[in-house]
Amino acid sequence: MYLDINEINKIQLDHTSRCNLACPQCARMINGKTVNPSMPITDLTLDDYKILLEPFNKNKITLFHCGNYGDALASSTFDETFNYSLEKNVKHIRIATNGSLRNTEWWSELANRGGNRLSVIFSIDGLEETNPMYRVNSNFNKIKENAQAFINAGGTAEWAFIEFKHNYHQIAQAEQLAKDMGFSKFTAKYTSRFADQDQTTQENKKGIIVEDTADNQNVKDKKEITQQYNSFDEYVEQTPITCKYQRDKTVFVDMCMKLWPCCWLGAPEYFHKPTQQTKSFDHLFNIYGKDFNDMRKYGWQVFEHEFFQEYLDKSWNEQDNKFKRIYTCGRTCGEKFEFSSGHGKNIKSEIINDK
Ligand SMILES: C[S@@+](CC[C@H](N)C(=O)[O-])C[C@H]1O[C@@H](n2cnc3c(N)ncnc32)[C@H](O)[C@@H]1O
Ligand code: SF4
Ligand code: SF4
Repeated sequence: MYLDINEINKIQLDHTSRCNLACPQCARMINGKTVNPSMPITDLTLDDYKILLEPFNKNKITLFHCGNYGDALASSTFDETFNYSLEKNVKHIRIATNGSLRNTEWWSELANRGGNRLSVIFSIDGLEETNPMYRVNSNFNKIKENAQAFINAGGTAEWAFIEFKHNYHQIAQAEQLAKDMGFSKFTAKYTSRFADQDQTTQENKKGIIVEDTADNQNVKDKKEITQQYNSFDEYVEQTPITCKYQRDKTVFVDMCMKLWPCCWLGAPEYFHKPTQQTKSFDHLFNIYGKDFNDMRKYGWQVFEHEFFQEYLDKSWNEQDNKFKRIYTCGRTCGEKFEFSSGHGKNIKSEIINDK
């Protein structure tokens, strides 16, 4: 059994595929430079949230805005869905954002509306000079003003810092600033994207080269795994899998209102180029069709579909020609490679102010 609907306690959302930034390793960009043309530009709507929250008791569900293709605050439907979710009495709302959208009045008001049922993770990868090297088009001072307005109005804010060569030396300084500003938590994390793409550098759309840190654990792990299994693909095929989202009783909904078991499976449908991951998706769509998980058509019935209730478990534990292992699962939730920077051991997180 994968999960019963009553066990779900968190829904992670890609509320929109819109964003004001152009981070070069984000799935919304191709080659770091152009907006991915295979990604539909669209948003979830109020009607979608009515479907999403309908089966759940009050004070049960946490909504986590952290998608693959956009920033929730870039969406014109965000505010009404946020208010509706609070009215429906969701347990908690977490928003991961680049922090550079909206103005200080809006941020104070957000803190007031959300109260202690809201927390915001500001993705800030450096200081004034360095943050825009990866967070292309962002304005550090505007982010600081927004975050300060939110914190001053009583909001709970976390600072999440992705480590690159160009910002590595600033981690302690950023943590001190976070503390001074009243952030409650500071997290520094490796990125696995260089290892995943077998790259050490990525050019951004302004021609600046972003480089990996020298001692990225993911890169070391991938080398070791490749030696041990002859190839990384062989490892992906063979490794025992422990599903992180099944463990955390979380599901994911993309910006087209398709239900997926996790954020990683919510991405490949809109990749621009074929990859090992999209091959697995070709197989899934061949057997189930393209809209088997469309909640606008089928609501929560989607969750009873064979894909969720049989395919996933068989593909992890007893794969065959029909229930083939999904490449993304082996890569992300195998026993040796910690793909995720947010869920795994490759993360340093500290509480810096009591809330
Ligand atoms: C696509 S973003 C969407 C949320 C929001 N726009 C943001 O950037 O926080 C989802 C997550 O991916 C993270 N992310 C972006 N680029 C990354 C990278 N190169 N390595 C690891 N995580 C990355 C973001 O920091 C965020 O936590
Ligand atoms: S801010 Fe988030 S969604 Fe926007 S480009 Fe950067 S990582 Fe992608
Ligand atoms: S990648 Fe596969 S195994 Fe990992 S969380 Fe997603 S569904 Fe579960």
